[in-house]
Amino acid sequence: MRAAGVDAFGGDVRVLELAAPVSPAPDELVISVCAAGVGNWDEIVRVGEWDVGRKPPLALGVEAAGVVAAVGEEVPGFALGDEVLTHPLPLRHQGTWAELLVAPAALVARKPAAVPWDTAAAFPVPALTADQALSEAAPSPAGEWVLVHGAGGVTGGLAVQLAVARGATVVATASPSSESRVRDYGAGVVLDYHDPDWPARVRAAAPGGRGVDAAVKAARGGAASALQAVADDGRLATITGDPPTPERGVTVANIYVEADGERLAGLAESLEDGRLSLNVGARFALADAATALQGAVTGRAAGATVLTVPH
Ligand SMILES: NC(=O)c1ccc[n+]([C@@H]2O[C@H](COP(=O)([O-])OP(=O)(O)OC[C@H]3O[C@@H](n4cnc5c(N)ncnc54)[C@H](OP(=O)(O)O)[C@@H]3O)[C@@H](O)[C@H]2O)c1
Repeated sequence: MRAAGVDAFGGDVRVLELAAPVSPAPDELVISVCAAGVGNWDEIVRVGEWDVGRKPPLALGVEAAGVVAAVGEEVPGFALGDEVLTHPLPLRHQGTWAELLVAPAALVARKPAAVPWDTAAAFPVPALTADQALSEAAPSPAGEWVLVHGAGGVTGGLAVQLAVARGATVVATASPSSESRVRDYGAGVVLDYHDPDWPARVRAAAPGGRGVDAAVKAARGGAASALQAVADDGRLATITGDPPTPERGVTVANIYVEADGERLAGLAESLEDGRLSLNVGARFALADAATALQGAVTGRAAGATVLTVPH
């Protein structure tokens, strides 16, 4: 099967010809991939610093949407032709930048018919991450003030929408160019993170000037600044692997995305009913995966990056 990935950790991304999967194990599905997401986390896989369960020659990619092409004999609830999406880690066969993907059915969710393939493909990792980070920082967000730092990004944008849907008042940081989109997500206050005083402005915005109850940090850097914006005894979750040293009773959590088909299914329903949205900023063919990855790493695309896989 055609795939895009690396011959060795640290190697250049190129088109690979890899063995197609054989029949699925009893708990697995084989998925004919229609589109696969590209994120800067794929660069971490490329250089061998995120263990996805397989070694090169390796198709990169950890999220995809496609059509069920084979069903393991003990899989309930899925049939040939079902439209699905998944973050299938640890990998059973190869990564998602490939024509065919093997995934345990427990990590797969149905794609709502109205959701486009590229949106579905780019959704699993940021949606699961945003949900897991928000649930950690704000397990009961209704009535709370929640900061989302890095709301202009795909994951941060989803965190804003989830917090708003769960009844929080959201203070977000974003560039002026992303401000109106982040307001449309429902953020009550949007502050430019280029202003070095933004943590003080977050504190001032929250009732009594005490700071927010909870914070999700979804952009690299600025951990200490985000912490300053949190009220005493509040909670902060970071998804960028740089937890600040806790102070003033603030609880700090370092979140790494966990594969979860059931949780993904619930999030995908919110995509269908419009409570969540995700903007795809760039689409590439599988053969242009190297360029796609470069764009995702430098953050050039305003929105998610997707590889489309024709059949
Ligand atoms: N832990 C995990 O499991 C996990 C999972 C997913 C993602 N991540 C990490 O989370 C980060 C975000 O991922 P993503 O895919 O959502 O990114 P993305 O969509 O590429 O986000 C890029 C946007 O982030 C904003 N940004 C950049 N620097 C910023 C800063 N210093 N302060 C505030 N906002 C800033 C910018 O928005 P503006 O337009 O507002 O400037 C930029 O357009 C990445 O580092 C990624 O590796 C971790």
